[in-house]
Amino acid sequence: MAGRYQGRVAVITGGASGIGAATVRKFVSEGARVVIADMQEEMGKKLAAELGAAVHFQRTDVTHEAQVKAAVDSAISKFGRLDCIYNNAGFGGAAGPVESISIQDYDITMDVLVKGVFLGIKHAAPILKAQGSGTIVNTASIAAFYSGIGPALYNAAKAAVLQMTKSMALEFGYFGVRVNCVCPGIIATPLAAGRPGASKEVLDKMHAELDGEEVLRRIGNPEEIADAVFWLASDESSYVNGHALVVDGGRTAGLPYQKQTSWLKKPRELRLYRPEGR
Ligand SMILES: NC(=O)c1ccc[n+]([C@@H]2O[C@H](COP(=O)([O-])OP(=O)(O)OC[C@H]3O[C@@H](n4cnc5c(N)ncnc54)[C@H](O)[C@@H]3O)[C@@H](O)[C@H]2O)c1
Repeated sequence: MAGRYQGRVAVITGGASGIGAATVRKFVSEGARVVIADMQEEMGKKLAAELGAAVHFQRTDVTHEAQVKAAVDSAISKFGRLDCIYNNAGFGGAAGPVESISIQDYDITMDVLVKGVFLGIKHAAPILKAQGSGTIVNTASIAAFYSGIGPALYNAAKAAVLQMTKSMALEFGYFGVRVNCVCPGIIATPLAAGRPGASKEVLDKMHAELDGEEVLRRIGNPEEIADAVFWLASDESSYVNGHALVVDGGRTAGLPYQKQTSWLKKPRELRLYRPEGR
């Protein structure tokens, strides 16, 4: 059976590692050809070599406009078309007390997390608009609307990605181009482990340390975000536009009731709220 992205082409920024790499694999498994646009040359080339002719690695720093344009252009020159851009490259950004953050660190944080998404959209949109079809997916985060997950600037940057997604969805909808974002919870990747290129052992340790904190009793895996991204990119989400798809295992659903109210632990008192006869 032909894949659901047979004959189509996607550019995936940050595609050398973590969520991006899992999404590259997902798209290829569905028949797509993919440009990996990432700064990590060794990892990106290794993944491209493993997946073969369907994948092209283009060294790209998403903060540089000419490099982002070159990545988008390479989709056309290598594979002849463009159907999707997934703006996913990211990092944790500047952390620490606000007064200790330099303007340089502020700028690089916003450049990677916000400007990088903007540039991807800026250079892919004209192609998608002209052909009257295509999808743009951005990686925001649950940090976009739920503080305490990442550092303040990271949270602010992801909120900007969320709003950019909605605004651009309105701008491009008329042309048949949909724009959505995915909002992952805690996912076992080198970024979340705080170590670029982290090994499987490090990620396994992360699971062991954090799984118990989560609603589903485990943190997420990159493949679970890749599935959501692929759905947003595919025809199966054809009427979904300007949407922020939360994939967090329930983390932002709220606090379990029992944790908020000690009196609930007393089952006798619960009965007071039951209708008569039940
Ligand atoms: N892992 C999580 O828990 C989590 C949760 C919510 C959102 N996210 C977001 O998911 C996205 C992917 O992160 P990940 O967790 O897979 O981390 P990761 O470190 O495994 O992958 C991030 C990739 O982005 C690339 N990158 C960073 N800066 C770049 C730049 N300037 N130009 C080009 N490429 C660049 C890195 O080289 C890397 O390959 C990020 O936007 C991140 O903020 C992650």
